[in-house]
Amino acid sequence: MIILEVKEITKRFGGLVALKDLSFKLRQGEILGIIGPNGAGKTTLFNVITSFHRPETGKIFFKGEDITELRPYQICRKGLARTFQITQPFANLTVLENVKIGAYNHIPSSREATDEALRILEAVGLIEKRNERATSLSIGHRKKLELAKAMATRPEVILLDEVVAGLNSREANDMIAYIHHIQKQGITILLIEHVMKAIMSLSNRIVVIHYGQKISEGKPEEVSKDPKVIEAYLGEEYILAKHQRS
Ligand SMILES: Nc1ncnc2c1ncn2[C@@H]1O[C@H](COP(=O)(O)OP(=O)(O)OP(=O)(O)O)[C@@H](O)[C@H]1O
Ligand SMILES: [Mg+2]
Repeated sequence: MIILEVKEITKRFGGLVALKDLSFKLRQGEILGIIGPNGAGKTTLFNVITSFHRPETGKIFFKGEDITELRPYQICRKGLARTFQITQPFANLTVLENVKIGAYNHIPSSREATDEALRILEAVGLIEKRNERATSLSIGHRKKLELAKAMATRPEVILLDEVVAGLNSREANDMIAYIHHIQKQGITILLIEHVMKAIMSLSNRIVVIHYGQKISEGKPEEVSKDPKVIEAYLGEEYILAKHQRS
């Protein structure tokens, strides 16, 4: 089943075309990796899917329903959650309180929201930080918090924007394991990532974006051999080469 469809999306910022006639489908249960050089339009794509930005043309369908005109909170209520590349915790709140806000998406009671938040903090490996202010966290812990906030909303589809980038290798391995665990719970995942080890080990399929356009789509091993992809990464080809060696 197709759970999310991005259909012929174009998004401009003044004269800059950030996304151009972009289309792809997300299948229920899969991890679809989104890669592309810096500035390719990946984060803009998440902003359009979750209605932080309105596209000039095109539509977004979630479980067959046109959600293009909905507001971000309405999209979240429907079961589509995201993380932010630049982590955005509520600065004056503790880690636990931040995650509870996500849980209030579906749980009205404070006590039950606390239980849900604690359960997620345990799973994501942040339980011992629960009473710290979100702003005091290291980058690795902030990324986990970002993911915990999104998971607390109980999504059916989760959009992850560079949750592995910036982590040390132990943290990155933990995060990769946790993303696998999310998929095993039946949640469908759209994953933007520059860390090739994460993309290649997690993705069932990959869409490659370059200057806002889809230039390749397929299984990881197909996409990493695609000449158009290698050319787009010219100057960065070591990333793909490094993966092929390991
Ligand atoms: N709010 C905005 N206003 C104007 N231009 C923007 C805005 N957001 C993004 N852009 C531009 O749109 C293009 C795509 O940016 P985007 O952040 O989507 O890239 P990205 O693929 O996520 O890059 P990175 O890998 O560095 O995170 C860039 O040229 C960027 O400068
Ligand atoms: Mg980005």
